[in-house]
Amino acid sequence: MRPKLVVGNWKMNGSREFTASLLSGILEGLDGNAAACAVCVPFPYLYQCEQLLAGSAIAWGAQDVSCQPSGAYTGEVCAAMLAEFGCRYVIVGHSERRAYHGESNELVARKAGAVLAAGLTPIVCVGETLAQREAGETAAVVGAQLDAVLELLGKDAVGRFVLSYEPVWAIGSGKTATPAMAQEVHAQLRAQLRACNAEGAEKVQILYGGSMKPENAGDLMAQPDIDGGLIGGAALKAADFLGIIRAAGPRI
Ligand code: PGA
Repeated sequence: MRPKLVVGNWKMNGSREFTASLLSGILEGLDGNAAACAVCVPFPYLYQCEQLLAGSAIAWGAQDVSCQPSGAYTGEVCAAMLAEFGCRYVIVGHSERRAYHGESNELVARKAGAVLAAGLTPIVCVGETLAQREAGETAAVVGAQLDAVLELLGKDAVGRFVLSYEPVWAIGSGKTATPAMAQEVHAQLRAQLRACNAEGAEKVQILYGGSMKPENAGDLMAQPDIDGGLIGGAALKAADFLGIIRAAGPRI
């Protein structure tokens, strides 16, 4: 059995005060044998995470990264900088980056490569829009998104990144994919990983994201290929985030 992983994606929310109070709320409520968890916070709060979470069971990370290692890229942050602040995870290819910043499958793959090169773990997001689902294109869309990563990084990378299936229509909308709908896509992604690297594929944690809450998390994570969650809105309240971590069961 793969260990479960619950990751909070805070998006562009928070303040120093909010970060301190949310993290202390999570730390206080976290059981000793809780499933693995992490928070992906805005860049300015990474130092605060390092101060407050070092030595705890909560890992931390960023929500985006440059595909470049260093240089004249105004406004960008490279993976080595994130490593310096103790990050373990970096989300790449979130649908909000793809939609609002025009990130292509190829750019997302390069970002995942930059994260791996810095010794961190990319959380690669894939997912279809409502129009794509209604047109029967889900398998092709998420397949192409994953393919770009496999093509660039090769089979040795399989098992070194986390994948997250996030149907765009379910993000922040209150509409969750049913466990069966999500499992169907997760199984397809696993098959695609297996075709590239059969052994590595069994290790890849495939998270589900899109309106996951304490009430629906248990049923989603009970599916054989759903290995955790990438949580937006519900990660901003300690009680909800803790409820989802509990639904993931004990750490294995
Ligand atoms: P949501 O966001 O949980 O608020 O739907 C998930 C995500 O975008 O990662």
